Amino acid sequence: MLNEKPATIGVMTSGGDSPGMNPCIRAVVRTASANNVQVLGIMDGYEGLINAEFRPLGVRDVGGILQRGGTILQTQRSLRFHEKRYQREAIRNMNSAGMDGLIVIGGEGSLKGAHALAEQDVRVVAVPASIDNDIWGTNMAIGVDTAMNTIMEAVDKLRDTASSHSRAFLIETMGRGCGYLAVMAGIVCGAEMVLIPEVPVTVEEVAKAVDEAYMRGKKHCIIIVAEGASVKVSDLAKALDDMDVGFTTRVTILGHIQRGGSPTAFERMLASRLGIKAAEALLAGESDVMVGLHGRDIELVSLADVTAKSRQASMLYYEMARMLAR
Ligand code: F6P
Repeated sequence: MLNEKPATIGVMTSGGDSPGMNPCIRAVVRTASANNVQVLGIMDGYEGLINAEFRPLGVRDVGGILQRGGTILQTQRSLRFHEKRYQREAIRNMNSAGMDGLIVIGGEGSLKGAHALAEQDVRVVAVPASIDNDIWGTNMAIGVDTAMNTIMEAVDKLRDTASSHSRAFLIETMGRGCGYLAVMAGIVCGAEMVLIPEVPVTVEEVAKAVDEAYMRGKKHCIIIVAEGASVKVSDLAKALDDMDVGFTTRVTILGHIQRGGSPTAFERMLASRLGIKAAEALLAGESDVMVGLHGRDIELVSLADVTAKSRQASMLYYEMARMLAR
C-alpha cells in the first residue's frame, strides 16, 4: 500500500476482447475524474505500453460507449511483453508520460503481465475480463454473461431446426481449457450432452449416449462441445454419421460471435462496479491486486494468487446439466 495519490493513471484493455470492456473503461475514467486524476488511454494493450501509444481520456471521450461491444482502446495479445527488456521499455514510457498507476483490463495472460509490472514496483490494479470465465478469484469476469446470452440465443435457434429434422447438433463453444461456458449453456439451453476439457470422454461413449437419447424418443440431440474438450466436433460428427446412431448430424462452431455484441444489463453493471472499485483501489494506494466479484460484493484479491491458479468448470453444475438432460 502506497500513500501518495497518483496524479495520472493509465488504463488498457489486453488479450481477447470481451463485451463489457467499454463500460469498464468509462467507469475508470469517470471515477478518476471525480477524484481529480488524469487518465491516459493505452492503445493495443501491452503493445501500446511498449510503443508509448497513449492518449488522454476525459469524461466526454467515454460518452456513448456503455452499450458498445469490443474496446475503444483496441487490444492485442503481446508476445513481446513476456520479455523483461520490453517490460522495462514499458515502465520507462510510463515514467516519461508521468503515469504513476495502471489499470489492466484483461484475461489470464494480461493479469500475468500486470503482476510482472507490480513486481517491478509499478502500481497496478487488474480487472478480470474474458468470456472464458477461467480466472481464479472472481465469480464472473467481464464478458461472460453477454457471451452466455449469445450462446443461448444461438442454441435456441439451432434446436428449432434440429427438432424439425430429427438431427443431432454438435455445437462448439469457446472457453480455451475451461468448460464453464459449455456447462452453463448445457443447463440454460437444455442440451442432451455437454463435453468439457475437465471430463474427458471417448467418441464411443458419446455415440452410445446419442443412440440412447434417440431410443428414448428425443426429437433432437443438442451436444455442446467446449473447444478444449477431449474430442473434436469434426471427428465426432464423422464418427456419429459412420455409426448410424439414429439422428443425422450437423456441426455449428459458434466462434468469435461469442466475443461480440452489446453488453447485457448484468454485464454493464458488473463492468461499472469493477471499474469503479479498481480506480478507487489504485487511488487509495493498492497495488498488485485484482478486483473480483465475491457473492454480491466486489473485493480485492492478490494478483500473485490469481496468476498462480486457474478456474475450472464447476462439477456441481456439470452434474446438474447431466441430470436435467434425461
Ligand atoms: O480467451 C478468449 C478466447 O475467445 C478463447 O475462448 C479462445 O480460445 C481464444 O480467445 C481465441 O483467440 P483469438 O481471438 O486470438 O483467435
